[in-house]
Amino acid sequence: MSLTLSDRLPGDPTARQTVERMIRVDHAGEYGAKRIYQGQLAVLGRGDKAALLRHMQAQEQVHLDTFSDLIARRRVRPTALLPLWHVAGFALGAATAALGERAAMACTVAVEEAIDEHYAAQTAALGADEAPLRETIETFRREELEHRDIGLDNGAEQAPGYRLMSLAIKAGCKLAIRISERV
Ligand SMILES: [Fe+2]
Ligand SMILES: [Fe+2]
Repeated sequence: MSLTLSDRLPGDPTARQTVERMIRVDHAGEYGAKRIYQGQLAVLGRGDKAALLRHMQAQEQVHLDTFSDLIARRRVRPTALLPLWHVAGFALGAATAALGERAAMACTVAVEEAIDEHYAAQTAALGADEAPLRETIETFRREELEHRDIGLDNGAEQAPGYRLMSLAIKAGCKLAIRISERV
C-alpha cells in the first residue's frame, strides 16, 4: 500500500501544510545557496573560476526570487532561521573557498547532491493539482545538477579531504532542510 497526500493519518500535516513546508524549505535553501556562492566569490572573485561562480550564483538568484514570490503569493511564513542561513551559507562558501578552488567546487557538489535528492522527493510527492510547482522544482533540479557537474568538471574530487568534507556538508544540508521545514 502506498500513501498519497490525501491518505493522511491523525497528526499528519494536511496537504496544504505539506506544500507550505515545501515552499518554506525551498525558499530557505535557495537563500542559503545564494549566500554560499556570495561567500565563495568574496574569496575567489578575481580567480579564474569567478565566471563559473557568478553563473551559478545568478541561477540561485532566479531560484530564490521564484520562491520569494511563492512565499508572498501563497502567504507562507518564511523560516525564522533566515538570519542563520544568511551567516552560515556565506561562512560555508567563504571557508571552502579559502581552502582553494577545488574545495569550493567540492562544497558545490555536496550541496547540489543533497538538493537533488530533496527536490526529487518533492516532485515525487506533488500531485497533478500542484503541476506548476512540480514543473518549477523540476527545472531548478536540472540546474542544480548542472552546478554539480560544473563542480565535478572543475576538480571537486581532487580537493584534499574530499570524501570527509562531502559527507559533512551533506549531513549539514540534510539537517538544515529538516529544521527549515518546521521552524
Ligand atoms: Fe538553487
Ligand atoms: Fe544550485
